[in-house]
Amino acid sequence: MSSPRWLRRAGAPRLEFGADYNPDQWPRAVWDSDVRHMREAGVTIVSLAIFSWAKLEPAPGEYDFAWLDDAMDLLHANGISVDLATATASPPPWLTAAHPEILPVDRLGHIIWPGGRQQWRPTSPIFREHALRLVEAMATRYASHPALVAWHVSNELGCHNVYDYSDDAARAFREWLRDRYVTLDELNDAWGTAFWAQRYTAWDEVIPPRLAATHPNPGQQLDFKRFSSDALKDYLRAERAVLRSLTPEVPVTTNFMVMGETKGMDYADWATEVDFVSNDHYRLPGPQSLDELSFSANLTGNLAGGQPWFLMEHSTSAVNWQPVNKAKKAGELARDSLTHVAHGADAVCFFQWRQSKAGAEKYHSAMLPHAGADSDLFRSVAALGAQLASLADLAGTPRTRARAAIVFDWTSWWASELDSHPTDRLRYRQEALDWYTAFLNLGVRVDVVPPSAPLEEYDVLIAPILHVVPAELAKRLDAYVTAGGHLVTTYFSGIVDERDHVWLGGYPGALRDLLGIRIEEFAPLLDDETATLSNGTTGSLWTDRIDLADESVEVLAAYETGELAGHAAVTRRPVGDGSAAYVSTRLGPDGLAPVLGTLLERAGVGSELPSDLRGRVELAQRGDFRFVLNRTDEPIDITELGAAEPTLAARGVAVIRA
Ligand code: GLA
Repeated sequence: MSSPRWLRRAGAPRLEFGADYNPDQWPRAVWDSDVRHMREAGVTIVSLAIFSWAKLEPAPGEYDFAWLDDAMDLLHANGISVDLATATASPPPWLTAAHPEILPVDRLGHIIWPGGRQQWRPTSPIFREHALRLVEAMATRYASHPALVAWHVSNELGCHNVYDYSDDAARAFREWLRDRYVTLDELNDAWGTAFWAQRYTAWDEVIPPRLAATHPNPGQQLDFKRFSSDALKDYLRAERAVLRSLTPEVPVTTNFMVMGETKGMDYADWATEVDFVSNDHYRLPGPQSLDELSFSANLTGNLAGGQPWFLMEHSTSAVNWQPVNKAKKAGELARDSLTHVAHGADAVCFFQWRQSKAGAEKYHSAMLPHAGADSDLFRSVAALGAQLASLADLAGTPRTRARAAIVFDWTSWWASELDSHPTDRLRYRQEALDWYTAFLNLGVRVDVVPPSAPLEEYDVLIAPILHVVPAELAKRLDAYVTAGGHLVTTYFSGIVDERDHVWLGGYPGALRDLLGIRIEEFAPLLDDETATLSNGTTGSLWTDRIDLADESVEVLAAYETGELAGHAAVTRRPVGDGSAAYVSTRLGPDGLAPVLGTLLERAGVGSELPSDLRGRVELAQRGDFRFVLNRTDEPIDITELGAAEPTLAARGVAVIRA
């Protein structure tokens, strides 16, 4: 990807710092103290008007911009830039009351009523007409406002409305399918409709995968996922077209949600649609919480092609939407933020500036908490602002590519977790995250990349559960290994093509010859079953009965117990200077570490960290800047790394400049 179009502003490059700002929730008198505290905290930018549609357009076509003019002027007068939302995220009650046909419908046919937010169908022509009219009014009004540095399209597109099963969706789905397949015969073939008498004889017979008597057609389900991601992408493009026509010099972004199990939007496909990539990320509880944060930041950085990106939202402390919402511990606010920076973020922003006193998010943390500026939280925020200001030289520096990569593929995520599979327990992203944790524990830098990345440039490629392998990708991986690359893949990989049709002749179909193995039947495990391997590790979830199909294949670990005793569990086929390895069971981070260690060693890829630091710190690199992130709750001696301060505080971060 070429360099992104970054914020439109004058002056030296800097790291941006700020938040969503919702002045419309507060009396005017509060705004002056807001900007005063923003300056104290070192805030440089805010996202404005995200949920302001009802206030900006109180009646159809009647606009009230006075308050927003005032807010824009006030921010500008205080040296704060604005990433201005198009304000279309949530339609006002007058619109949904007049046009209930814009409300989404779930797979059971239930209407998603107003009362929350984002209650609109991505494919509704009526919604689009009203939304684009507002976008046009916003762009016209603020085109030349000096505070405006970027456009923020909608908000978290697809957060609540990615899957809509309405009649609008059905119509748009049919059009999308006609584009993809051209003829009904092709569609019938792709969806395997010879099965269960599903053959379509007219396009109008095709519907979204609404509640069915039993497992809906998998081709229909997979295409509906593709379509739903594309429908929102199309909506993004529609807003973008209005913005570009009126303000061609202002870059356009929309906040992605590369985090946790948010999987409806294929962000690898969306990344080239925005002028710069933005992401929202919230920590999830659990033992891999910190690793998941790093994984998401890493993937976001690689979706941005290694170029700087914008962290649009994360939290200063607790969120409000988990069953139990824990406050962050001392040091976590800065470490979380700097983990994103370490992976390429040139902006650190939060939801939100001032903690709400009413509404559903009043217990969600913010930069300025209920307690006010005289609080540990606000002091930590201001300290972070100062630290980011001191790192201004870093701005614009791309991520430094690692030697190893984990391939992350939305299509495989979607397809591998469809129903009617050998197990419904498989979790695509969890397997990828487990490998990531294993890398962190070994102290080896790794990139998380979409298949469209320059895979050829990595010495080692890990492709966990690469379930969907079109013929072209199979060829590419073959060429990669033949050219000396080291490929590692896992259970349930190489199984189907892009239509979700099984590659015949034995598993793992498309990768069988490359791996030099053949599997006749899957052997998933029940929840209380495990498999003991000869290398001392324990598998769960899945096993395979592997037959070696090529005499050069080495068995790195074999099953020791049960039906599969004596059969290979982990294999590696040397191919010239390269190799193709297969891990047939779920080993989890601890079990993967020794296997990965061996595979990396064979590939000549090692840790850049002294052995006593491996696993305790994360190392990330952006050009001349090395980030050392303390993953533990203890201080760590990092003298060996040549940091200015020999001791890295508990949860601390050192930025070492070469
Ligand atoms: C999302 C939204 C914000 C807010 C936060 C709360 O990221 O974009 O408006 O609701 O979640 O965590």
